[in-house]
Amino acid sequence: MTSSLWLAGHDGQHKKSELDQSAADIVVVGAGITGLVTAVLLARAGKNVLVLEARTPGAVTTGNTTGKISLLQGTNLSTIVARHGPALARDYIQGSREGQDWLLRYCETNSVPVQREPTYTYAQSANEVPRARAELVASRLVGLDTVWDDDADVPFPFHGGVRLDDQAQFDPMPLLDSLIGELTNRGGKLVEGARVRSVSLPRHGTVRVRVAAAQGDVDVEAERCVLATGVPILDRGGFFARLKPSRSYGFAFEVPGAITRPMFLSAGSPTRSVRYAPVDGGERLVVAGAGHTVGRKSPHAELDELKSWTRSHFPGATVTHSWSAQDYTPVDRLPYVGPILPGSESIFVATGFNKWGLTGGVAAALILSSRILGGRMDWARAFAAWSPHEVTGLTTAMQANLEVGFQMTKGWLAPIVRSPKSPADQGGVVSGPPWHLRAESAVDGERHQVSPVCPHLGGIVNWNSVENSWDCPLHGSRFAPDGTLLEGPATRGLTRSR
Ligand SMILES: Cc1cc2nc3c(=O)[nH]c(=O)nc-3n(C[C@H](O)[C@H](O)[C@H](O)COP(=O)(O)OP(=O)(O)OC[C@H]3O[C@@H](n4cnc5c(N)ncnc54)[C@H](O)[C@@H]3O)c2cc1C
Ligand code: FES
Repeated sequence: MTSSLWLAGHDGQHKKSELDQSAADIVVVGAGITGLVTAVLLARAGKNVLVLEARTPGAVTTGNTTGKISLLQGTNLSTIVARHGPALARDYIQGSREGQDWLLRYCETNSVPVQREPTYTYAQSANEVPRARAELVASRLVGLDTVWDDDADVPFPFHGGVRLDDQAQFDPMPLLDSLIGELTNRGGKLVEGARVRSVSLPRHGTVRVRVAAAQGDVDVEAERCVLATGVPILDRGGFFARLKPSRSYGFAFEVPGAITRPMFLSAGSPTRSVRYAPVDGGERLVVAGAGHTVGRKSPHAELDELKSWTRSHFPGATVTHSWSAQDYTPVDRLPYVGPILPGSESIFVATGFNKWGLTGGVAAALILSSRILGGRMDWARAFAAWSPHEVTGLTTAMQANLEVGFQMTKGWLAPIVRSPKSPADQGGVVSGPPWHLRAESAVDGERHQVSPVCPHLGGIVNWNSVENSWDCPLHGSRFAPDGTLLEGPATRGLTRSR
């Protein structure tokens, strides 16, 4: 994997602040789309906002999306209607529409380039037609103006699909730059490289946010804290057990000839997500797919298949960029936005966007900012962090957590059964008895030895040979070969062996 098309061409020039303050009205943790839109909305209302970002803005998921700003979302709507009924699904779409409207207005006002195009959920074989048809029914039921097309003039297999006109796509990085510009112009601050380790409630009405800094941990006090960290980094509320982390892969190709204008997403497996992207002096074809639960696979074969599918339908296509990212699928298929625990008005979360966070993350920002400022929207019940509709996800949650339990046991015992050897030139292995497990890796001649025990809740990491990383199969934390934390609910890296 190299770098996403969006991050590779991005210069990262914006005003950066030092962690030199010990208080703010609101601390927002995470500078992806959710955190930055929330921060801007609160700064517009006169709040003193501090954004703390562990890496750089967009580095984790927002800068690695396929960039579709769409209300037709694969087969999401038929799943939500089947689980929750049309009324809640309509609320979900209303929130997504308000998120989409806000985002498109913002982009227009701030000259962030956006391409308005139709989007399809399509059948790539006759078997997928019923799923695509079900999406047509569900999308109409919730008020979308969708139609069925038997043909779409594309070079790949197309057995009909649902079309929704006038959706949008973009490169997300100019949006993040613009949001950071507005935030700092309004007196807010963004601190990069500031990993939050914990958030506590020392007294009523105050949150204390502990941030890892080179000179030791630093505490910042605020009235409220918003965790816009992808998966919440605090275990309170148990969100990690209500979400499945799913990693997907994207490629940008240089293609001779014309690239299809609409955006496409297949209704079934293997996933094909297709769009074009304007770049300086030309265009690229973006193709994404090969999704899997984090930490349970190194999908070499699926990536080869995705590339050869592209080359066979777009002859002469050559890869210019390759990347990957993960997002979190909620067990009941609706996002979780609101207080970390029922009744709390101090710490808020926004998660579970199920790969549709460009609209869902903005909807979350609208919900959280208005809640903090004293307002409310009725459609927010479809995004509730705590609500009765969760019951519909209980069976999925039980199954997901059984899988987690199985992965936990397998991780601790497999090294005894397999007795693996140290990696030769390239790769990573976990070896040793449960009381002395070690993870050894070799990447381009550089060797590291770390503890394989995930600091989140004790899962045993697996080597991901596609990305040269240690990935936890329980809740999706990921680490560099030397143990440095990359992403996920963990707040510390793997322990390095001396
Ligand atoms: C492959 C792929 C393709 C996708 N395509 C689309 C698409 O076409 N359309 C769409 O709508 N959605 C898409 N999505 C989903 C969408 O990209 C995400 O839902 C959205 O970007 C989530 O934004 P976020 O701000 O919530 O999280 P992120 O962008 O992940 O931001 C969270 C930030 O929090 C920071 N952070 C984490 N922990 C800490 C800590 N302890 N301290 C400080 N900072 C911390 C991280 O470093 C990160 O920058 C896609 C997702 C994937 C994986
Ligand atoms: S991410 Fe939860 S145990 Fe590793």
